[in-house]
Amino acid sequence: MSRGGSAPLQRPPEGYRVRSMVEADYPQIEAICAAVYSTERPYTDEELATHHRLFPEGQFVAEHEDSGDVAGVHFSLMLNLAHYHVDDSWDVLTASGLFTDHDPQGHTLYGAELMVAPRHQHHGLAKVLTNATRDLVRAKGLWRMAGGSRMPGYAQHLAEIEPQTYIERVRSGEIVDPVLTAHLHDGWDVVAPIRGYLPHDDESAGWAAIIQWINPSCPPPPEFDLSKLPRRG
Ligand SMILES: CC(C)(COP(=O)(O)OP(=O)(O)OC[C@H]1O[C@@H](n2cnc3c(N)ncnc32)[C@H](O)[C@@H]1OP(=O)(O)O)[C@@H](O)C(=O)NCCC(=O)NCCS
Repeated sequence: MSRGGSAPLQRPPEGYRVRSMVEADYPQIEAICAAVYSTERPYTDEELATHHRLFPEGQFVAEHEDSGDVAGVHFSLMLNLAHYHVDDSWDVLTASGLFTDHDPQGHTLYGAELMVAPRHQHHGLAKVLTNATRDLVRAKGLWRMAGGSRMPGYAQHLAEIEPQTYIERVRSGEIVDPVLTAHLHDGWDVVAPIRGYLPHDDESAGWAAIIQWINPSCPPPPEFDLSKLPRRG
């Protein structure tokens, strides 16, 4: 079940504002990507320009007002998840990061990227970026946001506990995960653990948690519940 509308709308922390991505942001976004993902290739100008061309209103930037620097981003696209499996990889869901599968008729806003520059982390920017995306879901009358959460604390627990147990302990607060904990604080709920979402994510031991936030004003009909999506072969 979703926590529904429990995450309150929140202004950006003092000194920051949330706005749409513009072309001048691309070099800084690529630098943040290189800084936070040790095993992923950073976005290219071409990819970011494609996101902007296909769905400009879904590409959010948190800007540090004094410096004008990009402090964080949340990128999204609209999908018809009936065309996918619950355990499809990030590459499949985002057309290899290009978002060319963006479907303006889709009922789900897919959170394809959330990253905050290391020096701006722990200021609540993930939360305000997530809330901006949640506002877009409400404004468009979509059913939900969905995404895949890394769980980079899991590799060190791999030998002792199953992914589902890890998620339950993160949910209860017994374990703090650098990413999943933040998502749960920000109003997302876990649907299921899946393997191979980001195959090179060694910190997560290749695992991820499928997460969602249901729009309480416009929930999906029961047959479109994410847990009812088929698994790959
Ligand atoms: C995950 C990430 C986006 C979080 O960004 P952030 O701006 O630091 O997160 P916030 O400051 O908004 O924190 C969100 C919530 O999580 C909590 N939180 C964040 N980090 C925490 C930690 N290490 N321990 C406990 N709680 C934590 C915050 O307290 C806040 O909850 P609350 O205000 O309701 O109490 C950031 O760490 C990041 O960019 N990581 C690398 C890229 C990545 O893996 N992205 C996720 C892809 S799925």
